[in-house]
Amino acid sequence: MAIDHYYHLGRSGLRVSRLALGTMTFGNKGIRGIKGAWGSDEQTARSIFQRYVQAGGNFIDTADSYGEGLSESLLGQFVAEAGLRDQVVISTKFSNSLQPGNPNAGGNGRKSMMRAVDASLRRLRTDYIDLYLLHTWDRVTPAEEVIRGFDDLVRAGKIRYWGLSDVPGRAQTWAELHGLSQPACLQLPYSLVERSIEQEFVPLAHALGLGITAWSPLAMGLLSGKYQGRDPGEGRLALDQSGSGLGLFTDRNQRILGILHDASATLGRSMAQIALNWAVSQPSIASAIVGARSVEQLNVNMAALAFSLPDDVLLDLAEASRIELAHPYTLFADDYQAGVLNAGVTVGDKPDGYATRTFLPKVTDYAFGRSRM
Ligand SMILES: NC(=O)c1ccc[n+]([C@@H]2O[C@H](COP(=O)([O-])OP(=O)(O)OC[C@H]3O[C@@H](n4cnc5c(N)ncnc54)[C@H](OP(=O)(O)O)[C@@H]3O)[C@@H](O)[C@H]2O)c1
Repeated sequence: MAIDHYYHLGRSGLRVSRLALGTMTFGNKGIRGIKGAWGSDEQTARSIFQRYVQAGGNFIDTADSYGEGLSESLLGQFVAEAGLRDQVVISTKFSNSLQPGNPNAGGNGRKSMMRAVDASLRRLRTDYIDLYLLHTWDRVTPAEEVIRGFDDLVRAGKIRYWGLSDVPGRAQTWAELHGLSQPACLQLPYSLVERSIEQEFVPLAHALGLGITAWSPLAMGLLSGKYQGRDPGEGRLALDQSGSGLGLFTDRNQRILGILHDASATLGRSMAQIALNWAVSQPSIASAIVGARSVEQLNVNMAALAFSLPDDVLLDLAEASRIELAHPYTLFADDYQAGVLNAGVTVGDKPDGYATRTFLPKVTDYAFGRSRM
């Protein structure tokens, strides 16, 4: 893996780097709802952008709400200064309101989406967005309304591809059934300390050909190891005045950090590099979105693709970061299935060319009456 080796995002034709550049930190304003400003001033943000694209990175993630529009504005400015609009893949998002008091300035409805996309295009100084995402599900707007809106934006030439961030379900089937443009990706939280998407989203993405872009792959800096007894300085998690690092300073996470620490000493790689390498190497993960606050951090993080983790480290990390299953997932676990469903009979995956256990039929398979083995 290398940052200038590109992969198709899900089953789309869009080619992206395995490490995307997150720009939530651009402008140093933080985000509304989280106390304190953290991130990079304009000049540092520019240097981070320049370093990333010089290294061959092409996938940059922002959102209209980051820095209340400042992240998009800075990104648009940097891309224009560098003359790189055609080379970079810009991903941005809508859902969060930037206009208190205006009911349709937020949420996932068509009015909100159409207003938001035009505002993002203006701030980004471009006439198209490569990848447009619903930022957070509003629990109300019908999936059909959202998908039709995305499809209209594709047909109007305002966006090239679309995807979903922080959603519960499966919109792809409706789009496929109606012959509309389909989502290319799911953007979800994923790291060694946050593996809950493995229960539903990873098999779903695998079956439907969606690339998962992982946000907070370093758990907001925790997995760099800097909160292990040393002075974290201006570290983001140190801003949480409760002292719990936004709930991340737990015994379980300390055990994961312990494994990372030992692996770091053995492999001669930083803990951040090992944590990022682990995240991008997991099934269905298309890219990890790194959020560096400085060029130094970015340099460390971009070297995360240059090695492979040995099996013993992978096993130790898998064991330490294992998630406690809740019902009904306990019933899907290998030991339960082997003992109770199969009563000791070995029932393995089917041979190549047949569906595996994780296969979910595509909706067209139902629609056209085809059967799949
Ligand atoms: N869709 C969503 O809902 C959603 C949500 C969150 C984020 N995102 C996207 O994902 C991107 C990444 O999220 P994130 O910023 O939380 O990612 P992250 O990689 O987990 O955390 C990044 C933070 O960790 C610290 N850090 C990074 N590299 C380091 C290193 N080598 N050594 C020590 N500390 C290091 C820095 O914070 P300090 O130095 O300040 O400690 C940096 O700002 C965002 O920019 C955004 O594009 C999306």
